[in-house]
Amino acid sequence: MPLIAHRRMHATSRSIVTNQTGPHDDVSRRVARALEHPLRKPVAEHTRAAFVEADAWLAARQAPLILDAGCGVGLSTRCLAERHPDCAVIGIDRSADRLSRDHGTLSDNALLVRADLVDFWRLALEAGWRPLQHYLLYPNPYPKASHLKMRWHGHPVFPTILALGGRLELRSNWRLYVEEFALAVEQATGLRAAILEHEPTNAYLSPFERKYHLSGQALWRLTVALPHCPSLLPE
Ligand SMILES: C[S@@+](CC[C@H](N)C(=O)[O-])C[C@H]1O[C@@H](n2cnc3c(N)ncnc32)[C@H](O)[C@@H]1O
Repeated sequence: MPLIAHRRMHATSRSIVTNQTGPHDDVSRRVARALEHPLRKPVAEHTRAAFVEADAWLAARQAPLILDAGCGVGLSTRCLAERHPDCAVIGIDRSADRLSRDHGTLSDNALLVRADLVDFWRLALEAGWRPLQHYLLYPNPYPKASHLKMRWHGHPVFPTILALGGRLELRSNWRLYVEEFALAVEQATGLRAAILEHEPTNAYLSPFERKYHLSGQALWRLTVALPHCPSLLPE
């Protein structure tokens, strides 16, 4: 199904409801903690096995890597693979149900992996992966203030996401998520991420992008070029 951008169609997706009025006061404390304390959670066996397969697939391709983290049903992975035929595109999601939905054949340069990103990212860094591009498309917002630690920039895995390097692109329908993410990137790396309103023109990159846009919601896009920097992680 091509995701053609066409706003006259209607969809109903509720806007974000949050009890925050600005960036969360604890972003800085959470980032500092993630930079100081190693994440010791053991890697789940199913993700380790999935990573071994993905690593072999990537090694056989010898092509620049694009990661699609939290790819859902994988339409964005397919789309990125079509747009970048010279790259190897890996979509990762923990939902077997989403990944199993039939959206047509995958091109040779795309792979969908069922795995927990918290583990997959750490294995990727350990294995020396250096994505050229890294997409975080419409991550779960966790809009309650008490859920900051579940947003990627409030999670202990955050330094690993940055340490992988490459051109990181985050999209969200919640401006505050993107603003907090930018604050966290700057605190950890000293780099200022660009934030722009995103107006899909020809095509939607993902089903959530389509759903939010057709519901009349504003979309936000953050981009930053990161160096590969494993030393960001605490010992
Ligand atoms: C809001 S959906 C967005 C899906 C897709 N990127 C899109 O834009 O249509 C967020 C996705 O992130 C996945 N996800 C959340 N936490 C994850 C984790 N720890 N590991 C892997 N996938 C995760 C969910 O299963 C879900 O498919």
